[in-house]
Amino acid sequence: MKVLVIGGGGREHAIIKKLKQNKRISNIYAAPGNGGISKDAECVNIGACDIDKMVKFCVERQIDLAVVAPDDPLVLGMVDALNEQGIKTFGPNKAAAILEGSKVFSKDLMQKYQIPTAKYAVFSHADEAISYILEQNTYPTVIKADGLALGKGVIIAENYDQACYAVNSIMNDKMFGESGNQIVVEEFLTGPEVSVLSFCDGKTIVPMISSMDHKRALNGDKGLNTGGMGTIAPNPYYTKEVAKECMETIFVPTMEAMNQEGRTFQGCIFFGLMITPNGPKVIEYNCRFGDPETQVVLPLLKTDLLDIFEAINQQRLGELSIEFEENRFAACVIAASSGYPQSYPKGIEIHGLDEDGQLEQAVIYHAGTALEDGVFQTSGGRVLGVTQTGDTLQQALEKAYHAIKEIQFDGMQYRTDIGKRALEK
Ligand code: AMP
Ligand code: GLY
Repeated sequence: MKVLVIGGGGREHAIIKKLKQNKRISNIYAAPGNGGISKDAECVNIGACDIDKMVKFCVERQIDLAVVAPDDPLVLGMVDALNEQGIKTFGPNKAAAILEGSKVFSKDLMQKYQIPTAKYAVFSHADEAISYILEQNTYPTVIKADGLALGKGVIIAENYDQACYAVNSIMNDKMFGESGNQIVVEEFLTGPEVSVLSFCDGKTIVPMISSMDHKRALNGDKGLNTGGMGTIAPNPYYTKEVAKECMETIFVPTMEAMNQEGRTFQGCIFFGLMITPNGPKVIEYNCRFGDPETQVVLPLLKTDLLDIFEAINQQRLGELSIEFEENRFAACVIAASSGYPQSYPKGIEIHGLDEDGQLEQAVIYHAGTALEDGVFQTSGGRVLGVTQTGDTLQQALEKAYHAIKEIQFDGMQYRTDIGKRALEK
């Protein structure tokens, strides 16, 4: 089989490494991939959102399965365009990807189908949103741009002035472009956060092992929000009882709600959950694997990933038994460029990796690297995800932190407290 993975970050590297364990795959391509991925797949210089070129490539190369990993091509309808030409895919079509593509859609869906989430209101005019915030007079309050905003579209306002500033920046100054034509203003929830990725074919939904992201740039959950600075799996706050409640009140109802709406979801639904004092609630849906959640979830998956992707494509996921390693733990620590998540330099030489971009002590998922004349260089904000598994979380973390010390590049930054909150549970 010839498989194409669309995207070029650490998540895609983790998917590719997992797929490579399947002997039926003869060729694995990545578009665009990155320096480290080029050691595991043939990188094709096509942007992840370039639908026309992607379709042409898949038809010419007779790709048997295209895995669409990032949010933007999914929301743009990459899956629909590939399917029209008879190319099989993994990932939701455009109608289903709206689950992530529009926060107004997802909030209205949860309200309509009574799926637990924060109370909210939707606005198309800044002055109406501001009057509402004034009337509510409860802080912090949460302001979200409707559309995709590179993971930055959520602002937690601590007071009225911050809230007004956020509403004006999103709606009048269009800091996230058209994504800010509508906003959601919602109740601030508290409690530990859990990420649950799930396989879904529209008939069956199978949650994967839970994980915990660390979104802020600095230790102690300080600093700016990032795409994620590290992850651990499983998440100790996601107990068996919580899992059962989520299955009954959130996961199955979400799949069924999408069916009811004529938007059957086939792919990975990512549930961003908060375990509040009043039970688990949905903070956000994503229509794809998380990054860097995938980097800790897939290393613990025992079932073949290609078999799962094919079963989802044929809507026979219910026939598979999907297993994860029991009593194993995984940790991923992100090495990022100086300045990330704001502006950062690129093209900085990375020291310490072997010629495959790996280390003996850990698996290195490349997020933002380029390979120039045999030398690995930085090419993104998040550069590497140093990942290890262990019989305890502590062991997995110690091994990952031991390994990251082998790697150096100018300005390299990483959090030294990944997993700390989980260990304290
Ligand atoms: P998102 O981009 O939707 O993942 O949101 C980014 C982060 O904002 C989440 O991981 C939460 O930490 C926080 N957040 C979003 N919505 C809420 C909420 N209603 N209450 C408290 N925190 C929230
Ligand atoms: N790590 C969060 C995300 O993938 O959106």
